[in-house]
Amino acid sequence: MKVIGVSGSPRRGGNSELLLEQALDGAKSRGAGIEKLVLDELEVNPCRNCDDCLESGVCTTQDDMQAIYPRLDEVDCLFLASPVFFLTVTAQTKAFIDRCQCLWVRRNVLKVPDKKRRRGLFISTAHSERPVVFQSAISVVRAFFSTLNVGYDAELLFGGMEEKGQIALHPTALKEAFEVGARLASGEEVAEPMAPMVLRPIGVVRNMGEESEVILQADFAEALDGIEGFSHIKVLYWMHKLSPQGRSTMKVHPRGRMKLPLTGVFATRSPSRPNPVGISTVRLLERRGNILRVQGLDAIDGTPVIDIKPYLPGYDSTPDASVPDWVGRRDAG
Ligand SMILES: Cc1cc2nc3c(=O)[nH]c(=O)nc-3n(C[C@H](O)[C@H](O)[C@H](O)COP(=O)(O)O)c2cc1C
Repeated sequence: MKVIGVSGSPRRGGNSELLLEQALDGAKSRGAGIEKLVLDELEVNPCRNCDDCLESGVCTTQDDMQAIYPRLDEVDCLFLASPVFFLTVTAQTKAFIDRCQCLWVRRNVLKVPDKKRRRGLFISTAHSERPVVFQSAISVVRAFFSTLNVGYDAELLFGGMEEKGQIALHPTALKEAFEVGARLASGEEVAEPMAPMVLRPIGVVRNMGEESEVILQADFAEALDGIEGFSHIKVLYWMHKLSPQGRSTMKVHPRGRMKLPLTGVFATRSPSRPNPVGISTVRLLERRGNILRVQGLDAIDGTPVIDIKPYLPGYDSTPDASVPDWVGRRDAG
C-alpha cells in the first residue's frame, strides 16, 4: 500500500499540513508506505496549454512534475491538502492539478485504460465558518480525483482556522485525520461524503405585511401555469440571513422560550438548522404573470424562493397526526 500526501499550502506547519501529517501517520500505522510532497518547495509550473500532451499523453514541461507523474501512477491512496484561498485551492495546488491535464488526455482522448482504482482524501481548512466556503475547492478536487481514477472517499474540512497551527487546538481534528488516514490505507469502509448540491433561486419574496408577493424570475413564469386553480400553495424559501452559528445549532428551545424543552432542530420549525430551508403554506390571492400575491407567507423581504408546490389536501393534511405536549403550550403563548 503506497500513500502519497500532497501539501498545497505555502505555510509550512500550517493547519492543512498538520492534518495531512496526521492522516499519513494513520496510514503508516496500518503498514502503508507514505510519502509527503510539499508543492511550495517543488518547482511545479502552471500548464501552458501547449497541447504537446495531446498525441502522447506526456507533459513536456521540464520541472519537478516529471518525477511526480510515475508516482501518481503507482499510488494506492492520494491525500490532497490545500487551504482555501479566495474560495478555492491555493495556486500551488491548482498548478499541480492543471499539470495533470496530460493524464486527463491519456484517459479521455487517448483512451488508455487505467483499471487501478485509488482511494482519495481531501483535506482543507479556511478562515470562514460557513460550510459553503469549501464548495468551489471540493468541485475542483472532485474533478481532479476523477481524472486520476481516485475516489473522493473522504474529506476533512475545518472552518474557523486562521492562525498557523490553530488546528491543534481543535478537540478532535487531528485524531479524526489520523483515523481516516488509517481507514483509507487499510481498505476499511469510510462514509463517502455526499456531493454538495447547488440550489438556484427561482424568485424572491416581497413582504408587504399581511400580504406578500412571490416574484419569480421571468423565465419561470410558464412554470406557474395552472396554479390559479389552487386556493393554497406551499412556498419553500432559503432563510439567507441565518448565521453560521445558526447552521451548526443542533438543539433549541422552541421559539426561544426557555420553558419549552430543549429539542433537536429537526423536531422543531426553528430557522436554525444546517440547511436553512423554510416552508409556508399560504393562501394564493392572485397570479399576475410571474408574480404570485399570497397571504400568510412567513418570510422576510428579499428572501430567495427555491420552490413552489400546490397544496393538495389529500397529501398535505393528516387528520390523525399527533404532536408532543410542548406544541400545545407553544401555541397557547
Ligand atoms: C491568500 C489567502 C486567501 C485566503 N482566502 C480565504 C477565503 O477565501 N476564505 C477563507 O475562509 N479563508 C481564506 N484564507 C484563510 C486560510 O484559508 C486559512 O488561514 C487556512 O487555515 C490556512 O491554512 P494553512 O495553515 O494550511 O495554510 C485565505 C488566506 C490567504 C493567505
